[in-house]
Amino acid sequence: MKRSVSPFGNSAIRLRLIEEQDLLATLSWRNREEARVWFKSSGLLSYEQHRNWFLRYQEKDDDFLFVIEADGNLVGQASVYGIDWDSGTAEVGRFLVAPEGAGKGYIHRACTELARFCGTELNLEYIFLEVFEHNERALRIYQQNGFVEERRYDGLVRMGRRTAGIA
Ligand SMILES: CC(C)(COP(=O)(O)OP(=O)(O)OC[C@H]1O[C@@H](n2cnc3c(N)ncnc32)[C@H](O)[C@@H]1OP(=O)(O)O)[C@@H](O)C(=O)NCCC(=O)NCCS
Repeated sequence: MKRSVSPFGNSAIRLRLIEEQDLLATLSWRNREEARVWFKSSGLLSYEQHRNWFLRYQEKDDDFLFVIEADGNLVGQASVYGIDWDSGTAEVGRFLVAPEGAGKGYIHRACTELARFCGTELNLEYIFLEVFEHNERALRIYQQNGFVEERRYDGLVRMGRRTAGIA
């Protein structure tokens, strides 16, 4: 069963756990051609597939998907998953912007807040991600948020960072 997690954020954005009412919006962002090409499973998803994922997700305590709100509007999503509570490690990702929120720094700030949340609220010590090596936009956000390249394989860059010291 998923533990309850309070919303968090800063003066510009708020991250709260995804709810069933958010599925249509997040599916439409995910299915855009220019977005899905950057995900490892890049096929179009049906609403039924998306909802089935959500129902399975709700039972898991190692996976949190947040929608990002700015001025009360949904502007994107971000996630921490594959949490290993024993070793204090997890993967972050599923960063996705709503078309109308693109290029406004919301995802950059969400990445900052998510890393902070992983350290201070989930007590994780280390987080990592995988990104396609040509995804310049995403790479720049991760570099600016302290993620360091660890290795490259199959066109992907793996980056990681310790969460210690994030105030
Ligand atoms: C990656 C993604 C989430 C970024 O969203 P966004 O709204 O552009 O992000 P932000 O506005 O918060 O930040 C963009 C940053 O990239 C920079 N940037 C913009 N276009 C760029 C480009 N073509 N090349 C390099 N950097 C670029 C911006 O200058 C900004 O940096 P800044 O903070 O120094 O100004 C969005 O493009 C998206 O949803 N892509 C599809 C899904 C995806 O790729 N997810 C990541 C999978 S690992």
